[in-house]
Amino acid sequence: MNGVANISLAAESRQGRISFIDLAAQQRRIRPAIEHRLQAVLDHGRYIAGPEIEELEALLAERTGAAAAVACASGTAALIIPLFALGVKQGDAVFIPSFTYNATANAVLVTGATPVFVDIDPATFNMDPVDLKKKIAEIRTKGELTPRALIPVDMFGSPANYTSIAKIASDEGLSVLSDGAQSFGGVFNNRLVGNLAPATATSFFPGKALGAYGDAGAVFTQDADDIDEWMSIRWHGTDNERKTSVRVGFNGRMDTFQAAVLLEKLAIFDDELAARRQIAETYDARLSSIARPQQHLSGAQSGCAYYSLCVENRDAVVEQVNKMGVPTAIYYTTPLHEMPAFAEFAPDETLAATNAVAKEIFALPMHPYLTPDQVDYICDVVEAAASQ
Ligand SMILES: Cc1ncc(COP(=O)(O)O)c(C=O)c1O
Repeated sequence: MNGVANISLAAESRQGRISFIDLAAQQRRIRPAIEHRLQAVLDHGRYIAGPEIEELEALLAERTGAAAAVACASGTAALIIPLFALGVKQGDAVFIPSFTYNATANAVLVTGATPVFVDIDPATFNMDPVDLKKKIAEIRTKGELTPRALIPVDMFGSPANYTSIAKIASDEGLSVLSDGAQSFGGVFNNRLVGNLAPATATSFFPGKALGAYGDAGAVFTQDADDIDEWMSIRWHGTDNERKTSVRVGFNGRMDTFQAAVLLEKLAIFDDELAARRQIAETYDARLSSIARPQQHLSGAQSGCAYYSLCVENRDAVVEQVNKMGVPTAIYYTTPLHEMPAFAEFAPDETLAATNAVAKEIFALPMHPYLTPDQVDYICDVVEAAASQ
């Protein structure tokens, strides 16, 4: 009997079924409170722009230290709203990592601007400031596009290098929009995600660390003067009376039911985040000698939406780990510059770290309801598979 089979036998008495993300366990914990909130929406009937929206916006701003937060339809809407407000348009270059979810690029393309792909730091999986500078210089030299904005992404919840990025943006006269879709709860230099950049988009997709029961997102600002325009864009670009269109906008609203759910989930978020961080610490301690877990910058704490690590023989390790009852995911097997929809924007890119990480990365179960036994078992299984 080999080592892996031994673990399998031991596992049957040590752990039940392991979920990659366990929304059912969370729901069992807060279901009466959520039902109460949903009942309140059914009673007042304001399914759009109900009082829960403003309540949520106030709480989100208060807890992140942002000047204000605007609830919106999705993380994608949260990216598009500030890009529209900045006036990003055709002929502009917007610098984004290629190692991200496709929404980051789609939001840029919706404005008519061109995404320019920047490589990542192979340890943090976040935008590499050195390559960012290089790509800005290349675009200036070519002279076809106007460098206009940049969108760092806080991959898996870990804040990007906002110190270097803010300096480059200021030197180059570029706007910064943080894609914090995965990083609600993250911290950098004692400031929370939402208050790390002039504008920050986050997603409340159900599988995120703070997730709704449908699509939802929010955009945060460090300058409260932004929000009138953002709220107008969110409501088809209308004026305060919502009668006349004064700018181009779209339906970017969050519905009231989602706000009701999020209010109850926000109440337990800190407790859940502490559990996520504890699990990430155990994974780091147990797995750093046989794999390369995501590194965090000094002063950064991840929001721990996902836990990803690199191993050389990724596909074989994943196969073995899955066989042992541990679910995994791969974010992202294909970087954006290799996807048909975006390849034309990266004809001659060299994104060496992005390409290398995409071949080796995979994600382990990460949710606050994993038991210590389950975490232990997952580590045993990954250790055994990676050492074979
Ligand atoms: C990095 C990143 N940006 C943007 C988004 C878009 O968020 P949503 O699905 O809520 O539109 C996601 C969602 O997964 C994401 O991971």
